[in-house]
Amino acid sequence: MKICMIGAGYVGLVSAACFSDFGWTVTCVDKDPNRLASLKAGKSPIYEPGLEALMERNVRVGRLVFTDDLKTAVANADIVFLAVGTPMRRGDGYADLSYVFSAVEEAAQYLDGFTVITTKSTVPVGTSREIERRLKAKRPDADVAVCSNPEFLREGSAIQDFTHPDRVLVGTDDLRARDVMERLYKPLALRGSPVMFVERESAELAKYAANAFLALKISFINEIADVCEAVGADVQEVASAIGRDRRIGDKFLHPGPGYGGSCFPKDVSALIRTAREARSPVSIIEQVERVNHERKLAMAVRIETAAGGSVRDKTIAILGVTFKPNTDDMRDAPSLLIVPMLQERGATVRVCDPQGRPQAEPMLPGVVWCENAEDAAAGADALVIVTEWNEFRALDLEAIKSRMAGSTIVDLRNVLDPATVRDLGIAYTGVGRGRSP
Ligand code: NAD
Ligand code: UGA
Repeated sequence: MKICMIGAGYVGLVSAACFSDFGWTVTCVDKDPNRLASLKAGKSPIYEPGLEALMERNVRVGRLVFTDDLKTAVANADIVFLAVGTPMRRGDGYADLSYVFSAVEEAAQYLDGFTVITTKSTVPVGTSREIERRLKAKRPDADVAVCSNPEFLREGSAIQDFTHPDRVLVGTDDLRARDVMERLYKPLALRGSPVMFVERESAELAKYAANAFLALKISFINEIADVCEAVGADVQEVASAIGRDRRIGDKFLHPGPGYGGSCFPKDVSALIRTAREARSPVSIIEQVERVNHERKLAMAVRIETAAGGSVRDKTIAILGVTFKPNTDDMRDAPSLLIVPMLQERGATVRVCDPQGRPQAEPMLPGVVWCENAEDAAAGADALVIVTEWNEFRALDLEAIKSRMAGSTIVDLRNVLDPATVRDLGIAYTGVGRGRSP
């Protein structure tokens, strides 16, 4: 089976590496010359645990190739995957499909023989049909079937998620395409992952519904955390108690500074717009979007309150700026709202992040970059954990305290033990852990 993967980003590159590891021959095409140069040099342009090793072993045996030669890649392919970005469109919040459509137009001219074209990118309902319409207009002679094959992996655990999915979802009504997709995913099916074949519209909508539901779960627990603070309950205990009910499930019940990332914010926004356009508004999800935005702002206020009511002329140490640990991705990270708000209110912000700096540096002007947590703590009035990188779970709190000017820790991810922190004479503020001071 020969695969052409258009787009070597967080999803395209992981998918390409994993498919090649199944034994398929994958040609990965990307437009970005820097990204391509890095890939050809054997270096992953993104930080994703395990990815470089996976790339290396498949490139070595010739199963994984990086190129800008779209013509050969498409002409030889049994399946062409579209894994380009679908960011939030400026102005109206809808999914920007321009990268998808231009990739389709470019690929169309090179199609040769029966080819399955499938979206891995997250695209609104109706996009597969629109791709099909455009292909027919451009290449009426081409023998193609357009499928929807949304991806459910998470950054930071992408390889594990891709190779052990809860399900693989394929939207198609074409029997030849079904056969190709069945063969493609056989290695996962043999390992026990269900491969579900559904209508294209169902596959497209299921991806948005899944992300919106997870975003809803996070916003729900964030609000319950606020209630815990108001009434003196502990959200960890509440989450663990409700999570044991299998109808609820224990995942995605960690309160924090609001969800961020390359997908939840843009997908929630796109679903809201698609549903409004279809005259079937998703009012719960509209609330989630509003609640999540307010959550991020509220976290900046929480830091201000913990720092004594004002951060003017104070130094705040921020540990972690990426939207989650184990990634270098800064897209829609809560830190992008929190840090500028602290700066606007007069704080000097010292920042450290194990992988985030290359992307974050241009996005967070005016901060002082530090090597590690202890360095960031130097002279700080308050120290704030924004992203729960593992190395922040085992901080040497005595060393941190001795370097700080003040003695306040704000733990927006609940990774520290409040009693241990307080025993050292450090004021502790977490999220939803008992009555707020
Ligand atoms: P990304 O921005 O990291 O990567 C997109 C890549 O496509 C870039 O390298 C870009 O140069 C390349 N590209 C754009 N147009 C091209 C063209 N015409 N030809 C060749 N290359 C082209 O994006 P991503 O995070 O990988 O997301 C891709 C899609 O997958 C999005 O729709 C996203 O919603 C979806 N998705 C992402 C994740 C995730 O964890 N990031 C998970 C599931 C689904
Ligand atoms: C998310 C989904 O989990 C994937 O299934 C999906 O494929 C992907 O979006 C996508 O469509 O791109 P990802 O954004 O990589 O994956 O990371 P998550 O682990 O879902 O975290 C998203 C955000 O929610 C982060 O800011 C994280 O800190 C926050 N979060 C997550 C919480 O605040 N609490 C939780 O309990 C879980």
